[in-house]
Amino acid sequence: MSQIVIRPNGPLEGTIQVGGAKNAALKLMAASLLAEGEYHLRNVPAITDVDTMAELLTCMGVAVTRPAPHEVILRRGADCGYEAPYELVERMRASIVVLGPLLGRVGRARVAMPGGDDFGSRPIDMHLSGLEQMGATFEVRHGYIEATADQLLGARIVLEFPSVGATENLLLAAVLAKGTTFIENAAREPEIADLAAFLNRMGAMIVGAGTSTIEIEGVEDLEPADHTVIPDRIEAATYLAAVALAGGEITIEGARPDHMDMLIRKLGDMGMRIAPSSSGLWALANRRLMSVDVSTLPYPGIATDYKPLFVTMLSVADGIAIVTENLFAGRFRYVSELIRMGADIRTEGRHAVVRGVERLSGAPVRASDIRAGAALVVAGLAAEGETVVADAEHIDRGYEEFPERLRSLGAQVFRADDASDGG
Ligand code: EPU
Repeated sequence: MSQIVIRPNGPLEGTIQVGGAKNAALKLMAASLLAEGEYHLRNVPAITDVDTMAELLTCMGVAVTRPAPHEVILRRGADCGYEAPYELVERMRASIVVLGPLLGRVGRARVAMPGGDDFGSRPIDMHLSGLEQMGATFEVRHGYIEATADQLLGARIVLEFPSVGATENLLLAAVLAKGTTFIENAAREPEIADLAAFLNRMGAMIVGAGTSTIEIEGVEDLEPADHTVIPDRIEAATYLAAVALAGGEITIEGARPDHMDMLIRKLGDMGMRIAPSSSGLWALANRRLMSVDVSTLPYPGIATDYKPLFVTMLSVADGIAIVTENLFAGRFRYVSELIRMGADIRTEGRHAVVRGVERLSGAPVRASDIRAGAALVVAGLAAEGETVVADAEHIDRGYEEFPERLRSLGAQVFRADDASDGG
C-alpha cells in the first residue's frame, strides 16, 4: 500500500503542464474495438487506469504499445475477444464502456457486472435499457452480463439522467447500428464531444455531441484514426485547489478554460484570481478563501469530481457553506478524514455543512478513491505539520506523478519511501 507524505512549505509558484483527460482517453481506447487496424493516440496520461484499459483490451486481442510516455498505439486484428473479466471490471468500473462497441462490432459481449464502490451503489440500468432499445438482449449469469445482438438498430433513446457512461456506451454502439439513433438528455461533458470527434474521424456520422441531443447515423464500417486527447479539466482543477490552499501564483499550461467555466467562476467568488493565459490558465491566491455554497450537477454544472476539492477548500475558508451532491449519494467518504485533520463538517444525506476553520492540522488519513485522495493531499498543503495519505494507489489511477508535479511548484510532497530518505 503506497503512502504520500505532505509537509506544508508556503505558497506555490511556477508553471505546470496539465495532462490528457483520463475520462476521455479510456473511452477512446475502447473505441479501438470498433474497427480493424492501427490507432495512434497522443496526450494519453501515464496513469494506472490507462494501464488497466490496456490490459482489458489486450485480453480481447488488441495489441497495445506505448512508443513514448504519452502515446499509445492500439492494433486491433480481425479477430477480437468479447469478454471483460471480473478482476479488471472490479478494478476499474469504466471497463463497462466496452459493452457498446462489442455489441456493435462483434455482436456479443460478456462483461462482469460491476459491483458497488466507494460512491455507493452505481447502477448501469440506463446503459442496458438503451442498448435493449437498439435490439440487444441481456442475461445476467454467474455475475456476468451476457449480451447479444445480431444487428443493432437505430432508436430514439431518452435517458432518465444525463449519464456520462450510458451516453458513451450508446454512442459507441450506435455508430455501427442500422439506421439513425437519437440520444436525448445526453451527457454534455467535453470528454463526450472528444469521443464523438474521434469516432467521426473514424468515419462515423455523429452530430450534436456536447449538447443534450446527439444524432448518430449508423455506418457500415469504420476505420482506425489518430487523435490527441483533450486536457484533463479535473487535474487542472486539482492544481487550482492546491494553489487556493497553499497560496501563491501558478500557470497551468494546456488547460482549457472553456471546459471549466463554472469552476472558475466559483473559485473567483471564493476570492481567487483566475484568468485565461496564452498557454492555458493563470491563477493567484493571496488571501483567505471565502465560503460559497456548492451544488454538483452534470456538465456544465460543477462536476462531482471537483467536490472533494471544494469541501477541502471550504474547510479553511471564512464562513459557512452548504455543499450538495446531486450525482453520487455516497460520495462523502473522505469527510471523516478531513475531520481527523481538524475540519468542521457535518453531513446529512446529500448535504454537507462546512464551517471554515483557521487551519487544518496534519494527520494520517486514507484515500478512498481517486479524487478524495487528491483532495487529502492538497488538504495537507494547508495543514500544520505532516499529513500522510495512505492507500495512495487510488491517486495514481488518475494522476500522473502527482507528488513530483506538486514539488515542481515548490510543495513538499513525497512518496513515503522517498520521505523517509530525508527527501
Ligand atoms: N446512473 C444510473 N444508472 C446508469 C448510469 C448512471 O443510475 O445506468 C447514475 C449513477 O449512479 C450516478 C449518475 O447516474 O448517480 C451519474 O453517473 P454517470 O454514469 O454520469 O457516471 P460514470 O459514467 O459512471 C463518469 C466518470 C466519473 C465522474 C462521473 C460524473 C469516467 C470513467 N468516470 O462516471 O469520474 O464522476 O462520470 O461526471 O468517465 C473519476 O474520474 O474519478 C470519476 C469517478
